[in-house]
Amino acid sequence: MEIINNPSRVEIKKAAQALMDGHLVAFPTETVYGLGADATNEKAVSRVYSVKARPTDHPLIVHISSINQLDKWAVDIPEYALKLAEKFWPGPMTLILKRSGLAKNFITGNQVTVGLRIPSHPISLALLEQFQIIGGAGIAAPSANKFGRVSPTVASDVIFEIGEDLGNSDLILDGGQCTVGLESTIIDCTDEKFRILRPGAITLEMLLETLSHQKFISNTVTHIRVSGSHGHHYAPKAKILLDQIPTAGQGYIALSTFKSPPDVIRLSSPSSLQDFARNLYSSLRKADELGLQFIVVQQPTGDGIAVAIRDRLKKAANRI
Ligand code: TXA
Ligand code: MG
Repeated sequence: MEIINNPSRVEIKKAAQALMDGHLVAFPTETVYGLGADATNEKAVSRVYSVKARPTDHPLIVHISSINQLDKWAVDIPEYALKLAEKFWPGPMTLILKRSGLAKNFITGNQVTVGLRIPSHPISLALLEQFQIIGGAGIAAPSANKFGRVSPTVASDVIFEIGEDLGNSDLILDGGQCTVGLESTIIDCTDEKFRILRPGAITLEMLLETLSHQKFISNTVTHIRVSGSHGHHYAPKAKILLDQIPTAGQGYIALSTFKSPPDVIRLSSPSSLQDFARNLYSSLRKADELGLQFIVVQQPTGDGIAVAIRDRLKKAANRI
C-alpha cells in the first residue's frame, strides 16, 4: 500500500487508474475518509467488504462526479430529489433513489435502491472526475474503518484501521483533516416525501428551507436498512457515558463553556457545534490511545448539526 500526500494531478490520474484496474483507493471527503472501489467491479467491491469486515447486506454509497451522472445509477428520480441535488451537491448529502440496472446487488445489499453522493473535497472531486474521464461510472466508498468502529477523519486513522489489510497496489490519498467530521446526511427519496435516515451536516432545517414541510416524513421507521441504525456503532473501545459529571481519570468531551473537574482528562473543548463535529471522532480515538476506560460526553442541545452529533453519540454509547 502506498500513501500519497496531497496528490498532484499526475498522482490523481494514477489513483483513478488503480481503481480502474480493480485496486482500492482510500481518499478524503469533506465528511470522513472513504475506502473506494470501482462500483461496477464486483471483485473490487467484495475486497472492500472483506477489508472492513462488513456484512455484505450493508449497501455502499456510490460517489459520482456530477449531477449528469445521476441517470446512470438511478431511475424515477423525484423532482424534489433533483432540487436537493442541485442545492447541496457537491456536499455532505447522500440520496437514496430507485436503482438502475447498473447498480447491482453487490452494491445495494440486494435492495432495489442505491445511495448516491457527490462529495465536495477537492481531492475526491478530482479523483471522481478523472475516474469518469477514463470510463469509470462511480466509486463505491464506505467509511475507511472496520465495521462498527469510529470513522477516520485523518489519513493516519485510515492506516491504523485498515493499513494492514490493504494490498501492495492499493493507495491511500492523504488530504489532511476532514472539515465536517461526521458522515453525510442520508435522505430516502424513494417516496413522495423524503425521510432522513442518518442526520448530518445538511440539516433538517436546511432541507425544509429548500423543500416544503409537506415533503417531509418525520417517522423514521422504514424498510430500508442503514448500517448506523443497528445500535452499537461508531464506537471506540472506551465506554461512553452521556451527560454525566466526569470523575478523576475519565475522559471528557464538552463545549468549551463547560469546565473540567479536577484530574479529568479533557479530550476536546470545542467552541462551536462545527468544531464539536469535526473533532468528535479524533477525540474518541485519543481516549483509546490513552487507554482510558470511560469517556464522558456532554451532549450539545438544540437543532442543526447537534442532531447528528447526538445521533452518533447515542449509537457509540449503546454497547452491549
Ligand atoms: O459521508 C459519508 O457518507 C461517507 C463518505 C466516505 O462518503 N460514507 C459513509 O459510508 O459513511 P458508510 O458505508 O460507512 O455508510 C453508508 C450508509 C450505510 O449505513 C448504508 O447502510 C447506507 O449508507 N446506505 C447505502 N446505500 C443505501 C441504500 N440503498 N439504502 C439505504 N441505505 C443505504
Ligand atoms: Mg461507516
